[in-house]
Amino acid sequence: MKRFYLTTAIPYMNEKLHLGQVYEFILADVMTRFYRMMGYDVFFLTGSDEHGQKIFKTAAAKGISQKKYVDGMVADMQRILKLYCISNDAFIRTTDPGHEKIVQNIFNKMNDNGDIYKSTYEGWYCVPCETFFQDSQLIDKKCPQCSRPAEWIKEDNYFFRLSRYEDRLMKHIEQNPDFVIPEIRKNEFIGFLKQGLKDFSISRTTVKWGIQIPFDPEQYSYVWIDALINYISALGYSTENDALFKKYWPAQQQHVGKDILKFHTIIWPALLMSIGVPLPEHVVIHGWIMKGDEKLSKSKGITLDPDEMSARYGIDAIRYFFTREISFGLDGSFTAEAMQKRYNAELSNDYGNLVSRTLAMIDKYRNGVIPAHAGQDEEGGKLKQLWETTKKEAVSAITSWNYSECLVRIWEFVNAANKFIEDARPWEVAKDDSGKNRKKLDSILYSLAESIRLSTLLVFPFMPTVSRRIFSQLGIDKDPGDILLEDYGVWGAFEGNTRTGRREILFPRIENEKDKD
Ligand code: MSP
Repeated sequence: MKRFYLTTAIPYMNEKLHLGQVYEFILADVMTRFYRMMGYDVFFLTGSDEHGQKIFKTAAAKGISQKKYVDGMVADMQRILKLYCISNDAFIRTTDPGHEKIVQNIFNKMNDNGDIYKSTYEGWYCVPCETFFQDSQLIDKKCPQCSRPAEWIKEDNYFFRLSRYEDRLMKHIEQNPDFVIPEIRKNEFIGFLKQGLKDFSISRTTVKWGIQIPFDPEQYSYVWIDALINYISALGYSTENDALFKKYWPAQQQHVGKDILKFHTIIWPALLMSIGVPLPEHVVIHGWIMKGDEKLSKSKGITLDPDEMSARYGIDAIRYFFTREISFGLDGSFTAEAMQKRYNAELSNDYGNLVSRTLAMIDKYRNGVIPAHAGQDEEGGKLKQLWETTKKEAVSAITSWNYSECLVRIWEFVNAANKFIEDARPWEVAKDDSGKNRKKLDSILYSLAESIRLSTLLVFPFMPTVSRRIFSQLGIDKDPGDILLEDYGVWGAFEGNTRTGRREILFPRIENEKDKD
């Protein structure tokens, strides 16, 4: 079976997740659900980044132990993953003893390979970003990324010979032009390479909330090295239990946000080269979620809280909104107005009404039993044809990271089914529900139910809970997550003859959202 390993960045556990971080999980989740439906053996990893100065300071300020603090934060993160139906197969914590041991193995390996040397680091450090900066990079002595004051540090540290890998990285991108997705981010990566790569400090003496360097217990791993290693430590790399590593590495897709591009396209690959491990196929870089045109910022009160948002719209609508609204790779913004518009037009009207009108007619004309599939000459012949193109185009869009385009294709099909209702006028046919007409009405109703079932298969990766509800309304007892597109995604694979389930409004219309902000 073809395998598919996908990872996300592991968020810092210093504060509650915000919707920007959840956006990354949604993109990853949609992708893995599609690959599962396409018959791949999928392994989807996420986890938590728990070491470093930022978390040390946050816990200390709250007067509790670091471990206790991160335990609570991790539990909350896992609750949010569940709430948003994120289907990760594993969850790695950087405080797992197994992970810590593997980080130490890797330090030893890099050292044996001559990639580590001791020197003095003197320069700026931004604690919230856990990132070193040169003087010239700061703006008014502040971090160029988060605009908070940077700290001056001077320490004897271990350095990694990043400069050694400049040419190999350039060669890699030339030979694998889709290593960095999308194109704009690839260009950014090439820009960094062209500026030249400098060796950098990979240990700290003052930050003790971390993993000890095995050959010098005075020093602790720089939090980013520790964190990046999660992608292979979760698979048991360098241990006796490395079956997952052998099976799944190299990853097909590593999803991260644009702010951590350099860590994933330069530092991580160089580290892998140093230990002789192949590079991932694609580093997939998304843009930022903004609120209106402002960056999310807790201190400025610009927030998108995953709990509040799910209570307001439901998680399916949120998953739909962000994947439909944003062109993958670019920044995108949430506004209540845009959400209301899409929700009412595309979810409530287009999709919700197709389901409710169809089921109402099946109830009215066939006592709630979906007519059986009659074979070749379906009334919905055009829909049957369109389905084949829709399926192909939707899959091709998603496998090239065009989330929005994928939904556009699905919605074209949904709206073709809506148009079919208008054209076929089942209420007219029902006026004389006998003989040929009876067959005709059966066929119209079956075609509609089949169109709903099929579109719902493709909608499932985006909106898993509502899709399950639609399946149960159609009286189908299969879980859309357990099927293969290849056999169950074919027109006519549904035999009909099921009794429709309890009807409910899938997307109750929303009004005056803007005023509630
Ligand atoms: N701990 C590091 C990642 C280590 S991976 C080995 C980190 N954590 S983070 O919590 O700051 O960010 C986690 C992910 O969320 C990153 O991919 C980041 O780009 C993404 N996002 C953070 N804020 C975001 C938005 N406002 N919008 C979209 N993604 C955002 O970096």
